[in-house]
Amino acid sequence: MSGGRFVVTDRRGESSIAASGRFIAPRTNPLPVSPTDDPLAWAREYTPVLQSQGDEHEDAEPLSGYTIAVATHMEAVSGCLVEALNRAGAEVLFTASEPQSTHGDVVAYLDDIDGITGFAWEGMTDEEFDDAQHELLEQEPDFILDDGCELISKCHADHPEVAKQVIGGGEQTTAGITRVEAMDEEGVLEFPVYGVNDTPMKHFFDNVHGTGESALVNVSITTNTVITGQTVVVAGYGYCGRGIARKARGLGAQTVVTEVEPRKALQAHMDGHCVMSMGEAAELGDIFITSTGTRDVLRREHFEEMQDGAQLANAGHFDVEIDLDGLEAYADDISEPKDGITRYETPDGRYLNLLANGRLVNLTGPASEGHPAEIIDTTHAMMFVTAYDLITRDHDLGPGLYAIPDRLDRDVAERKLETLDIDIDAVTQAQQEYADDWRNEGSSF
Ligand code: NAI
Repeated sequence: MSGGRFVVTDRRGESSIAASGRFIAPRTNPLPVSPTDDPLAWAREYTPVLQSQGDEHEDAEPLSGYTIAVATHMEAVSGCLVEALNRAGAEVLFTASEPQSTHGDVVAYLDDIDGITGFAWEGMTDEEFDDAQHELLEQEPDFILDDGCELISKCHADHPEVAKQVIGGGEQTTAGITRVEAMDEEGVLEFPVYGVNDTPMKHFFDNVHGTGESALVNVSITTNTVITGQTVVVAGYGYCGRGIARKARGLGAQTVVTEVEPRKALQAHMDGHCVMSMGEAAELGDIFITSTGTRDVLRREHFEEMQDGAQLANAGHFDVEIDLDGLEAYADDISEPKDGITRYETPDGRYLNLLANGRLVNLTGPASEGHPAEIIDTTHAMMFVTAYDLITRDHDLGPGLYAIPDRLDRDVAERKLETLDIDIDAVTQAQQEYADDWRNEGSSF
């Protein structure tokens, strides 16, 4: 299949007609124009691991003959993953994993490359997002790399014949793994899926540092206010929440953490954050950031207690962590004081400010570009090795959710260290013998 399916809005805000005939509205607040005509140019410089994978495999093209579907936040760094898979010989069909996070210039650029076809465009509605994913699945991909398990679940629910022929997949995010697990437990999963999110090279960096930094940066940019001196309430102390809370404190905020898991709550306490229920935290917070993976973490009983001017942001999943219907029903008036902010006036005259429509604040705000490129570099490198390993290795994995072999995680870590020019020590022979010898007398004390 050749590119050219969609012509879309570029970062300069120019409108155009998609091949499907749909009018694509310009972004209301376009980011600065890329200094080159290549929207991936900057991201390539900051994705050395993905570049090394593309370089290594572009002559042999081990993925040649396979069609790989990629569903992810379609911005420049994701474009580098699509490009690397294509350089390794794969035909790539890409789509969005969240309707609002697609960058039109990236889609247009990739879609022009032979062997790459886009099923996403900037400003797509939720309905168009679903339609585009179905349209992609109708092309019968051999492999699915997913972010949120939307494409994998649609494939099983609505394209069962395609699911039967898919040879494997990878899932990159926490909430997506939960969905794959549920499918596996129900016995409906048709192919092996690697849990990319569960690798150290993903969640130690992407969730903690990527979400941690980019969520706070985007709260600050969207509201044009500082983090320092504010009380930041973080809901959920998993990998993402830990990163957000730690970095908020580093910026000078007072941090409050809410949890439902007693050990995570204790960990937050021992890490020096105030831990309490959301019922207590609601009246204290200046900024609320949810990162739990579940719904209605902020709801009416909390809105009723919040301070005038509270900022509400979600860095977890989709747009369900803040009860948007409840917020709308509670409000007397709704306005948009600034791009990316919806203001709800409460019956007693307070203003509650919702950022990025309650969607992922680091990906869907007016200036959002997702995680920093260097962080997504290793996440996407893990997606690349997922496809490479399951397609090229002679394995006997049946349907199910699998841990990625440790050697692949180590390989990405070693590549990353090499790009950073960091040397580490090797285990000596004596150390290895010491570790292997369970009778070692010196080890008893
Ligand atoms: P995790 O599973 O490590 O942490 C989630 C935490 O939330 C757990 O400790 C859990 O006990 C807690 N939790 C669950 N329900 C809660 C509630 N009602 N109140 C308070 N805490 C609650 O997951 P991780 O990796 O931190 O991811 C969290 C969410 O962020 C997921 O939905 C994931 O998909 C998403 N995510 C978002 C990214 C972004 O770019 N914004 C990047 C990576 C993940």
